[in-house]
Amino acid sequence: MAYISEVMGCGGYLPAKILTNQELAQTLDTTDEWIVERTGIHRRHIADNGQLTSDLAVQAAKQALEQADLSADDIDCIIVATTTPDHPFPATAARVQSKLGASKAFAFDIQAVCSGFVYGLAVADNFIRTGQAKIVLFIGAETMSRLLDWHDRRTCILFGDGAGALLLKASSSPSSLSSGVLSTHLFSDGHHYDALYVDDTIRIDALSRGVIRMQGREIFKSAVEKIGQAVQKALDNHKLTANDIDWFVPHQANQRIIMGVCERFSIPVEKMVLTIAEHANTSAASIPLALNTAVQDGRIQKGHLVLIEAMGGGLTWGSSLIRW
Ligand code: ACO
Repeated sequence: MAYISEVMGCGGYLPAKILTNQELAQTLDTTDEWIVERTGIHRRHIADNGQLTSDLAVQAAKQALEQADLSADDIDCIIVATTTPDHPFPATAARVQSKLGASKAFAFDIQAVCSGFVYGLAVADNFIRTGQAKIVLFIGAETMSRLLDWHDRRTCILFGDGAGALLLKASSSPSSLSSGVLSTHLFSDGHHYDALYVDDTIRIDALSRGVIRMQGREIFKSAVEKIGQAVQKALDNHKLTANDIDWFVPHQANQRIIMGVCERFSIPVEKMVLTIAEHANTSAASIPLALNTAVQDGRIQKGHLVLIEAMGGGLTWGSSLIRW
């Protein structure tokens, strides 16, 4: 029997605390105007001191379970895409499993930074396609605020915290284009390892020494080209054009990068799901948070064709087409 991964539900969670550009500008040599013009970001959510990545992940997962009308007992596999785990080990997914009480699920993390959601989706989809799991809870969850140097205006303005979740279920389908995850396309180039990295080991408390270092210009220049490659691959794979897409849900890194990709493929603004103004860059959580936003407000509906893409540290990048 051949299986495909159908989307059963999604969820999202953002910490209550909001940090605006104006608030940042009180302690940093920056302005609201500069940040908005260069990035599209107006504000970001920041986790409380006691709030861990697993806490955010569990909230998003509960919403997805409720939407899918499933219980934790139904889950066979939990994958958390994160670059900010609760601890270097064990996997944050193990904690999510225990907090949800998903006793029969196997659980592990994957790490591909901002591409984590596309990479994790490929892993989840392959477990389902091979018949090894029937129901996969897949979460992108991050507390990026703990990796920031709050004195570095080139990086700390860009990121926020949050989590988004998808529930995928195996179903047999007459045609590979009829529903579910149609395909995933992944790329890496380790030559750019130093363009975006954390400069030491991480800790979960205020003593964190490892912070994000980034060559912003280099990343920016690579982004439109590499994302364009991934988008083209997804479209070519199914002999589609950008006109066939109902919704374009990009990783929310920088509005100018997203606009560049849209221009290249003539994707109209109305088909774009943009959350960067409110969420900033939440790394592996940004796509599922954006998906959840567009599902909750009624834009993404059953049968719609959704294109996602991401690029991040590594460099890693990729794309996927999902028939909702
Ligand atoms: N406020 C005010 N001025 C600033 C700020 C700030 N927050 N940050 C940088 N500047 C200054 C710089 O110091 C520099 O000043 P100088 O000319 O006097 O030296 C000037 O602005 C221009 O700096 P650049 O770094 O060249 O500015 P740029 O237009 O490239 O914008 C940015 C910077 C927004 C980081 C951009 O390069 C970018 O978005 N790159 C992509 C990075 C990204 O998205 N990373 C996320 C992770 S990877 C991913 O998800 C794709």
